[in-house]
Amino acid sequence: MFSRIRNRLTLLYTTIFTCFLILFAGVSYLGSTWAVSYELNEEVRQLCLKEAEKQLESYKQNGKLEQESDKEIYDARSVSGVVFYYLLDDKGNVWRAQEPFPEMRETILGKIRTWRSKEGQTETYSASLQNGQEIKVVMTARGIYENQQLIGTLYFGKDVTAYYNVIQHSTPVLIGISFVFLLVAAGAAHILAGRTMIPLKRSFSRQREFVADASHELRTPLTVLRTSADAIARDDKNVMSSFSQLVLADMKDEIHKMTGIVSDLLTLARADAGAIELFKERFDFAPEAERIIRMLEPSAEEKNIQLFLQIYHANAIYGDKERLSQLLTILVDNSIKYTPRGGTVIVALAVEESDSGSLFRISVSDTGVGIEAEHQQQIFERFFRVDQNRSRDTSGSGLGLAIAQWIVEAHNGKITVSSEPGKGSTFAVSIPM
Ligand SMILES: Nc1ncnc2c1ncn2[C@@H]1O[C@H](COP(=O)(O)OP(=O)(O)OP(=O)(O)O)[C@@H](O)[C@H]1O
Ligand SMILES: [Mg+2]
Repeated sequence: MFSRIRNRLTLLYTTIFTCFLILFAGVSYLGSTWAVSYELNEEVRQLCLKEAEKQLESYKQNGKLEQESDKEIYDARSVSGVVFYYLLDDKGNVWRAQEPFPEMRETILGKIRTWRSKEGQTETYSASLQNGQEIKVVMTARGIYENQQLIGTLYFGKDVTAYYNVIQHSTPVLIGISFVFLLVAAGAAHILAGRTMIPLKRSFSRQREFVADASHELRTPLTVLRTSADAIARDDKNVMSSFSQLVLADMKDEIHKMTGIVSDLLTLARADAGAIELFKERFDFAPEAERIIRMLEPSAEEKNIQLFLQIYHANAIYGDKERLSQLLTILVDNSIKYTPRGGTVIVALAVEESDSGSLFRISVSDTGVGIEAEHQQQIFERFFRVDQNRSRDTSGSGLGLAIAQWIVEAHNGKITVSSEPGKGSTFAVSIPM
């Protein structure tokens, strides 16, 4: 149970860590991409603005835009990354151009011809050059005006392929690092979950001790009560009024139930503490099964339930006779209890050969109320009873199947249930021989 809780907690913690990790990685990735792109756009805008002002200056001085220059406007070393620009005159002819490699011109001019962005806005786009090379470019445009008359347009851009390559290449690295962090987070979650379990385990074991002590202490007064009630019942019937006789009968019933619960609780508490020793021996289970059927026959008859025992194989089984008999009693008792009047209960004993050796199989089938799929695992938990209202008609504390499961597991066996609500249930036990 504790390892199941620990695994669930580990999963929960890991999921929380993972969500934070994904959030952190996503925000960092988007944030840095945005920052880089903002920086690049701003740089291209500023360079374009400066160059447009210079061209206007030159126009005012010389009456024309600057066409030739002994020095290129920006060489690759003056600004980070490769810049390019095209200056078009008012008729749209290329007046001046600078590009890092000539293959660019056709592609960029193609873009300029279909340029739709507003003045001063930047555009980032991918283009493939004539030589097949793929580039990523940030570009902006600015008109140069003299007395509100357009004298030219400057298209200014920057090849940012390298920046985006770095971002693209860093993505798998980022994913790799995230994966490593994920493993670390899972490890940390496992340790944390383990820490959380310590006080839980401590209080659970204290609670078990309490149940063991309490049920042990309750046994003596219960025995005294039972023998006292028996003694009173043996008394002369004429001394007691019929009402007192009724009360006494009810009292004996309740004492009987309570003795059963206390004994079940003590069995489980001692099983938890590993204080129960099994006395395993080789014995024939068939006579035991017959005895249990005989013992439970009256309660079946009371509800007009037909009780059958089918023995397919009567090989001797190796186990604790008393505990295995208790197991069959619990299962048959349940089948009778949860089967309406006129139903059928079949107990079958068989030996089955499996890969891991011979298995002794006990199955108890009934035509009773059945168990919904969602409850089929819970019924083995302590104090769990399907639908408290329904179970109220039938007495019980919900400890029977928990004890049955413990007995089966103590014999290295397995217990399973298959059931359909309204049709019946089959409890199948297999124990290695
Ligand atoms: N054969 C069955 N058919 C239908 N429901 C069953 C059957 N056996 C068990 N159950 C369901 O499983 C629950 C748990 O069974 P369990 O034997 O542990 O407790 P109980 O019978 O209620 O009480 P007790 O401790 O007296 O045995 C029952 O309350 C019942 O709802
Ligand atoms: Mg029961």
